[in-house]
Formats: sequence, C-alpha cells, structure tokens
Amino acid sequence: MLKECVIVDGVRTPNGRAHAEKGWFRKRAPDELMTAVFDALFERNKAVKPGEIEAVFIGCANQSGPQHDIGRLAWLAGGYPEEIPTNTICQQCPSGMSAIEHAARAIACGEGEIFIAGGVEDMLNVKMGQNMEPPMRLYERYNPMELPMGPTAEKVAEQWKVSPEDMIEMAYHSHIRAAEARDAGKFDDEIVPVEGMTEEGEKFMVDRDQWIRDNISRERMATMPTPFKENGVITAAFSSPLTQGACALLLMERKKADALGLSYHLVYRGGAMAGCDPTVMGIGPINAVRKLLERCNLTADDIDVVELNEAFASQSLACLRELGLEDNAPFKKTNLWGGALALGHPLGESGARIVITLNSIMKRDRPEARYGLAALCGGFGNANATLWEKA
Ligand SMILES: CC(C)(COP(=O)(O)OP(=O)(O)OC[C@H]1O[C@@H](n2cnc3c(N)ncnc32)[C@H](O)[C@@H]1OP(=O)(O)O)[C@@H](O)C(=O)NCCC(=O)NCCS
Repeated sequence: MLKECVIVDGVRTPNGRAHAEKGWFRKRAPDELMTAVFDALFERNKAVKPGEIEAVFIGCANQSGPQHDIGRLAWLAGGYPEEIPTNTICQQCPSGMSAIEHAARAIACGEGEIFIAGGVEDMLNVKMGQNMEPPMRLYERYNPMELPMGPTAEKVAEQWKVSPEDMIEMAYHSHIRAAEARDAGKFDDEIVPVEGMTEEGEKFMVDRDQWIRDNISRERMATMPTPFKENGVITAAFSSPLTQGACALLLMERKKADALGLSYHLVYRGGAMAGCDPTVMGIGPINAVRKLLERCNLTADDIDVVELNEAFASQSLACLRELGLEDNAPFKKTNLWGGALALGHPLGESGARIVITLNSIMKRDRPEARYGLAALCGGFGNANATLWEKA
C-alpha cells in the first residue's frame, strides 16, 4: 500500500532582482542562498537532524558554473553530512516541482521517510541558457527564433487570443495582491531573511521580495516596449522578471511526522507531467493539470486554491481559461498572494516555491479548503502539476 507524503515545513529566501547594480543579492552566490534555506529548515524543525534525511532533491534549470550540481555542492559547502545523498534535477522551470515529486514518490513507495526537496536559481550569476549548446538537429525540427521564452509567450498570446488589456489586469492584480500579502506579514512564515545589499551598497537583512511594485500603474503598463517582437504584446510587465532565489521543503511520511509530533496541513495526492510543442511551451500546464485531475477523478470545480506560475501573463491566462479555472483577473482562487509577475521567477526554484506558498495560503487564508493545485510550464515544452489535500 502506498504511503502518504506530507509537508512539514517550507521556507524560501526572498526573491532578489537579478541585476548587477540594483539586485539586493548581487553579491550572493546560489549555494549561499541554498544554505540559508537548509539552515532555516533544521533550525525550525529541531526534531529532525540532517543525518536523518534520506535524500535531498534540488531543482535548478541552468546547471553550469556556480550552479553545476548545485544541490550536492551547496549541501557539502553548508557543512551538511557527506553520507546524505543529493540529486540536482533539471527539467527547466518545473525542476523544483520535479524535486518534490521525486521525494513524494519515494515516500509513497517506502523508499525513505524524510526528504528535503527544493530549488534554486541565480539568474544573475548564471544567465538563462548560459553555456547551452543545443543540438543542431533541433533547428531542423524547430525555427530557432521561436524557441526562446519571450517569443513563445508572444505566440501563445496570438494563438490563444489573450489581449494586452487582460494582461494589464493580471499584472496589476499580481502586484497589488503580493504587496497586500507582504504588508499583512503573510509571507513572514515562509521567508528566511538573508543578508543582502541596498542599491546604494549598504548591507541589510532582506526580508521581502524585491520585484513587488508598490506603484503599479495600468497606464504605464499600456505603453511599455515589447522586447521580444516588433509590434508585439509581451512587455517586461507581462513577463516574470529575472530573479535570484532558493527554497526548500521538509517532506515526510505521514506516520513518521505523527510519531515525531510534527504538524502538517497538506498531503500529496499526485503529480503529472506533460509535454507540448516547445514553441508554445507556456500552455503545457493545460495537459499536465488535465491528466492529473482525470487521474484523481476530480474536475476544475473541485479545486479550491490554485498556484499557477506566472511565467508570462499570456500563458497563465491561456491555461487558466482552457482549464476552466478562471476567466480574468482578479482571480477567485488563483495566485491569491500574487504570482511570479510580481514575486519573481527564479526558474528551477519556482516549482517548489509555489507549493510552499500554496501551503501557506491554505493554512492561513483558506483553512477550510480541501484541494490545492500547483502547476507550471517550462522551457522546451515541459510542464508539471501537483495536487494537495488538506490533512
Ligand atoms: C522581459 C525582460 C526581457 C526584461 O528584462 P530587462 O530588459 O532586463 O528589464 P527589467 O526587468 O529590468 O525591466 C525593464 C524596466 O521596466 C520596468 N518594469 C518592469 N515591469 C514593470 C511594470 N509592471 N510597470 C512599470 N515598469 C516595469 C523595470 O523596473 C525596469 O526599469 P528600472 O530599471 O528603471 O527599474 C526579462 O525580464 C525577461 O526575459 N523575462 C522573462 C524571463 C523568462 O523567460 N523566464 C522564464 C519563463 S518560462
């Protein structure tokens, strides 16, 4: 019989702007961000010792330079036990979610009771696609101009008929909600303050996300340039911004958590992966979520709370509409504390981060909610979705 996996805890660094002069974490390395969340997990959960972890799964999309096998190297650099194995997973943006699924499935099969799963991406020190050498045959199958993320978002906006007006509303509410959640202290439980640097170069403890805009303006968003296509529709406001961040969850077999007297709110009920045409990679969650719901014998109406990563406004809106989850912002049950347009999107980290935030929202704002869904798209047409149920 399959065992149950529960979320005992989840923490993340604040998300910093990946900018050489303005970024709060511009002097930090990705392994340091990772260590900050490992340390916080053990500090907050004294019943669990590092040596008792079965394995550590860490998602990271661009694994070169300082992110080469970052799960292993950050674990060792942080002084954690050598005998605990690690696995750094690359599935582009869904990497962090894939890390969670690896741990949850291992728990379900009885291959261990306590795992860490998380993700990290430093889009300043390791640029998107840095050192990537795609096979030339790929370009016989696909137009190379259509494969980068921005152009895929343009194509989705065109094919799924997502208007700039609807994207403005989505971006507007993403920032408003993120700012409200931040000001109400709702992220405080999941955020681990990490030392960073102001734009002026003063050291300070960063305890909030850098990209949230307090002066978000619909008028300004209506006149921004479209960097990915001449006369296109996708602007920086409708794109998740370049970000530095890390997160990790403590996942445990339910009976083990009970035996240790640890509390939890959500139980893992399943995950699904789906592939799609990489030139419209943003619509990947449609099939991943459909597969998952069908397998679990549920419909969109059964889902109470959704975290759908806002890689781009066009793809998020296309997915939410096709799935019958939402029509337009402000959303009724999706991204209630804002999404990646405002919070940032450290690629391989976000799939785990949205599960942490889903857990926080369901615990704090929607304690009666039964089912929570988290899903995201990924470069080259990978998408993942996970389903969680109130314990
Ligand atoms: C869109 C993109 C190219 C813009 O990058 P960039 O040129 O470095 O620009 P920035 O993000 O710094 O934004 C440009 C300016 O617009 C501003 N801006 C961004 N969003 C804004 C908004 N909603 N309203 C007003 N101004 C905004 C920024 O603050 C910045 O101005 P500043 O330097 O004065 O602060 C980049 O964010 C990107 O590629 N995003 C997608 C990343 C991606 O593909 N992720 C994977 C998804 S699958």
